[in-house]
Amino acid sequence: KKISAFQQTLLAWYDQQKRDLPWRRDHDPYHVWISEIMLQQTQVQTVIPYYNRFMKQFPNVQSLAEANEDDLMKAWEGLGYYSRARNLQKAANQLVQDYGGKWPTTVEDLQSLSGIGPYTAGAIASIAFNQPVAAIDGNAYRVFARLLEIDEDIAKPQTRKLFEKVVNQIISKDRPGDFNQAIMDLGASYMTAANYDSANSPVKAFNQAYLDGVEANYPVKTKK
Ligand code: ADE
Repeated sequence: KKISAFQQTLLAWYDQQKRDLPWRRDHDPYHVWISEIMLQQTQVQTVIPYYNRFMKQFPNVQSLAEANEDDLMKAWEGLGYYSRARNLQKAANQLVQDYGGKWPTTVEDLQSLSGIGPYTAGAIASIAFNQPVAAIDGNAYRVFARLLEIDEDIAKPQTRKLFEKVVNQIISKDRPGDFNQAIMDLGASYMTAANYDSANSPVKAFNQAYLDGVEANYPVKTKK
């Protein structure tokens, strides 16, 4: 039915057009984690060289846990929001000490790690551990709000639950990580915040707000 048609269309497009990004070369949870934290407040093109240098310098959880703090801050210089780097090292220590170096795989357990909230936990669980769970950041809110004409205010904290519920129903159970990353790519191409190009989008037939000519109204977001 409609959900599987949407999944197939989205994933076929992703297979052909996905961005070739360094953190997409494998599904190592460490790679997914570091990239998702860097991408939280920083553009993809800026993150790429930082990510590559970071992996040379701190190739795994153990090396990050043992890193000299000055070296770590130096590696982060230019990315800003240094609390992200401090949380990374805290979480690396938690992984070593509390989890014996073995990654937890559920969204709930992942959120026990410092700096990992619902979005990052969903991204790691789906991309690294193939769990059919939503990973909804600001871009994904916009994409789903338009596709489904969701009128809930995304500035309200309780709206996350509703989006998670909806996405958990339409996410591909076979390829949840690719599904979530395909949504990210849509949000960065045909379904950007401004100057979107829905008319040429691979999923335009599933984009209710586009079909109704009301995309400019989505997502609904009040000023805080
Ligand atoms: N933005 C956030 N996460 C991303 C990912 N995994 N790939 C591309 N862009 C992203």
